[in-house]
Amino acid sequence: ISVGEGVEPGTEGALTRPGGVRGETERTLTSEELAEIGLRFEVDGEIATITLDRPDKRNAQTFATWSALARIGRTLPEQVRVVVVRGEGPSFSAGIDLRTFTPEGVPGQGSFASAAALDDGTFEKRITEAQQGFLWLRRPDIVSIAVVQGHAIGAGFQLALSCDLRILADDARFCMKEPALGLVPDLTGTKPLVDLVGVARAVEICLTARTIEAGEALRLGLAEQVVPREELPEATRTLATALLSTNRDAATATKRLLHGAVGRTLEEQCAAERAEQAVRIRALFGGTGS
Ligand code: CAA
Repeated sequence: ISVGEGVEPGTEGALTRPGGVRGETERTLTSEELAEIGLRFEVDGEIATITLDRPDKRNAQTFATWSALARIGRTLPEQVRVVVVRGEGPSFSAGIDLRTFTPEGVPGQGSFASAAALDDGTFEKRITEAQQGFLWLRRPDIVSIAVVQGHAIGAGFQLALSCDLRILADDARFCMKEPALGLVPDLTGTKPLVDLVGVARAVEICLTARTIEAGEALRLGLAEQVVPREELPEATRTLATALLSTNRDAATATKRLLHGAVGRTLEEQCAAERAEQAVRIRALFGGTGS
């Protein structure tokens, strides 16, 4: 199935999840609309693939990219359990479109100069909207996999960090370039980075804005797997298939537990395990617990 064909909510095939506003459904973006933004979206059974598709510009991202990603998340077909995020061409993503730094900005989308002139509320809303493009990739009912070859710089690194898992080609290179440009990473990347490598290593990586090559990324826990570049599609398929082999509801509950573990004490986590297991056992073997 190819989603992004402009199926209206309520019509056959419009398998949309509730939209952001009071549970209303939202129209999916058409493949033409996505192409204009530099994205592709395909669904094959339980696996959805998002492709950053502006290879000639190294898949540079704009505000429209993030807004479209957020919409893909809100309208993700119900059957999808694994979301693959990949980039076409030599690089995963060279980060934010550098035209944003120019006075002219990205046509129709403004620039940092125009953003600087916004009032606090509008400014805050705009960054919140951009972050929505990344945040949904962590939700418990899906597992997201970033498939990274070549450069993943700035917003590209943060997009990879926003996924649950990362498979890298041996030529992959991460760089958190924002501090070198006078900015901070604000596309949800700082928390997963710290969770994965610890505060000290995150400080070192961000404040030097240095490049981390695939082998080091694997050692630091920034990748689950590094494979030769030509094996990337097959390695991705194998991982996605393995992730689909477990019970869907159990997988969702387990991901919720694992994510929650970071902020809980051992006692709280044990209580959360009991609560989730009660739901599972009653669902599998009957009983209401009353
Ligand atoms: N925005 C817009 N265009 C970009 C781009 C970007 N971020 N990165 C590359 N391109 C364009 C180049 O201008 C070039 O276009 P033309 O062919 O029209 O001249 C084309 O893509 C190919 O680029 P290169 O020839 O440089 O390709 P390469 O493979 O030799 O190098 C690269 C790849 C190392 C990624 C290099 O292009 C590069 O360093 N790009 C800029 C990276 C960057 O600084 N990104 C911003 C990070 S900060 C951020 O993302 C978050 C934030 O909020 C600030």
